[in-house]
Amino acid sequence: MNQVPLLSVHDLKTYFYLEQNRIAKAVDGVSFTVSPGETVAIVGESGSGKSITALSIMKLIEKPGKIVEGSIHLEEKVISSLSSKQMTKLRGNEIAMVFQEPMTALNPVYTVGNQITEMIRKHRKLDKKQAQIEAINLLKIVGISRAEDVVNDYPHQLSGGMRQRVMIAMAISCNPKLLIADEPTTALDVTIQAQILDLMVEMKERYHMALLLITHDLGIVSEYADRVVVMYGGQVVEEAPTKQLLRTTKHPYTKGLLESLPNLKEDVDRLGTIKGTVPPAYALPNGCRFYDRCPLAMEKCKEANPELYQVNTSHTVRCYLHEKEEIE
Ligand SMILES: Nc1ncnc2c1ncn2[C@@H]1O[C@H](COP(=O)(O)OP(=O)(O)OP(=O)(O)O)[C@@H](O)[C@H]1O
Ligand SMILES: [Mg+2]
Repeated sequence: MNQVPLLSVHDLKTYFYLEQNRIAKAVDGVSFTVSPGETVAIVGESGSGKSITALSIMKLIEKPGKIVEGSIHLEEKVISSLSSKQMTKLRGNEIAMVFQEPMTALNPVYTVGNQITEMIRKHRKLDKKQAQIEAINLLKIVGISRAEDVVNDYPHQLSGGMRQRVMIAMAISCNPKLLIADEPTTALDVTIQAQILDLMVEMKERYHMALLLITHDLGIVSEYADRVVVMYGGQVVEEAPTKQLLRTTKHPYTKGLLESLPNLKEDVDRLGTIKGTVPPAYALPNGCRFYDRCPLAMEKCKEANPELYQVNTSHTVRCYLHEKEEIE
């Protein structure tokens, strides 16, 4: 896409300064963009840096964590240099985030209605009564029947799927340009998962939002994302439009993720996960971060971490096997 990006993350580094002078490089030089109206997925196993990337964009990194380098732009605004007051205004209003476990994001002592109206009134000039009407309206929009009753319920009275719908209602209440969803359905069973993802897509279209969808599930990616950013060890290892990524997968890690998917391959016997685990963010190797798990590793992979090679105008890969394919 040649449009001006809505979100632009450039060389983001978010580190955690731990005891014994250890530094956890949770996000280590990540760059990507999201265009208006686009759905971009960030995919990777547990510990690859997906959530810390999202929290960095929201400026919700807490000590001992810190954004140490890089820039984040939302249109012309430089998010990375906004004050916390300016950021509070932007959060919810221009970027909203939906988390994996809505119970941690919803306040248990307030009713659903209270929380939605508070959110609305923080950003929009509506009186209490108008905000309450708007809250009920939003609950209806996100598919909650009996919205007039649910608005008076407390979060614990709702099912997981309903809570996630409430979170989505809060997220869209101020018409943000970008919705970040961090594993929004992993705590839900499969049928409810699909309903929630479909609802997010419906909201995205209705409100002309872009969606940054964080998941470890390439099945979800293949169904919902326009473009995919694959993360490993705090870095982007492959990025391409979804179809291209699935059809001409380049990185051995992405191939491994695909092979461990039950539905995309017929041969169920090959179902399995990639051997080994993601290296801890405080003990990253000098060479390729996937080296010790890679079935195609070469000697030089151990010595230096490859750059991201641009193999065509929309596909990048961090792997020496594709170094020679690089275009100018
Ligand atoms: N508060 C913290 N202190 C130290 N290290 C942290 C902290 N938060 C995250 N990390 C480290 O940063 C790395 C990336 O974490 P992150 O939560 O972004 O992973 P993730 O890709 O979202 O994984 P998951 O799929 O499990 O949610 C991990 O190695 C993690 O241990
Ligand atoms: Mg996470």
